[in-house]
Amino acid sequence: MNESVTLTIDGREVTVPKGTTILDAAAQAGIEIPVICYHPHLTANGLCRICSVEAGARVQLAACVTEVSDGMEIVTNSENVRHGRRTILEMLAATVDLSEAPEILPLLDEYDADQNRFAGGARRTAPVYDDNPFFIRDYNQCINCWRCVQVCGSDAQYAFALTFDGRGFYTQIATFMDDALPDTTCVFCGQCVGVCPTGALKPKRQALLEQGLDPDAIFSQTRRKRKKKRRV
Ligand code: SF4
Ligand code: FES
Repeated sequence: MNESVTLTIDGREVTVPKGTTILDAAAQAGIEIPVICYHPHLTANGLCRICSVEAGARVQLAACVTEVSDGMEIVTNSENVRHGRRTILEMLAATVDLSEAPEILPLLDEYDADQNRFAGGARRTAPVYDDNPFFIRDYNQCINCWRCVQVCGSDAQYAFALTFDGRGFYTQIATFMDDALPDTTCVFCGQCVGVCPTGALKPKRQALLEQGLDPDAIFSQTRRKRKKKRRV
């Protein structure tokens, strides 16, 4: 028998199966909580904390990884919660290039984030990797959401071509020993590109199109040349 849990979210009572996350319980109550690192088809790791809510605990709880419990009284949009989200967004904007992050840019407006609040702070910079005909990796736009690592690994592809490198502020996504992608276990399935919420992973054809190349020039760089069949 499925045990259920009853709680309130922003004053609305909701009953959900035990084990449901706050995020999913809120969705059932018609309440949307913002997410950045979370993806519905990938393991949630609670990394960005944009989904944090108040639940009467000493600290705010990440809604995407916290399971509900009976009698919880959750507040998803208090001034404290909004303040936390605003600060997260301001720190992200200070650290990485968000100009091609369609899931994040609307949040900057929604939470009145000042993109220049931490102007002058250290930025994470990285080389742009253009080492294969399929996609470009620009980790200057990477927010370390971990989605690409999850989808490349045990959530889908089991290729394990991506991992992390560096420590603390300098942590970034990388390949083992920083090898070029064709020298790794990457099978170029493109799933990492599909789940990336920023422009950090971009199809090479799209990048070349944006650079103004015409289709012939683009295909010559991204298509394998057919070998002519030998007549016998
Ligand atoms: S490359 Fe994209 S998907 Fe991977 S961690 Fe960075 S932002 Fe996330
Ligand atoms: S969306 Fe929940 S921690 Fe990132």
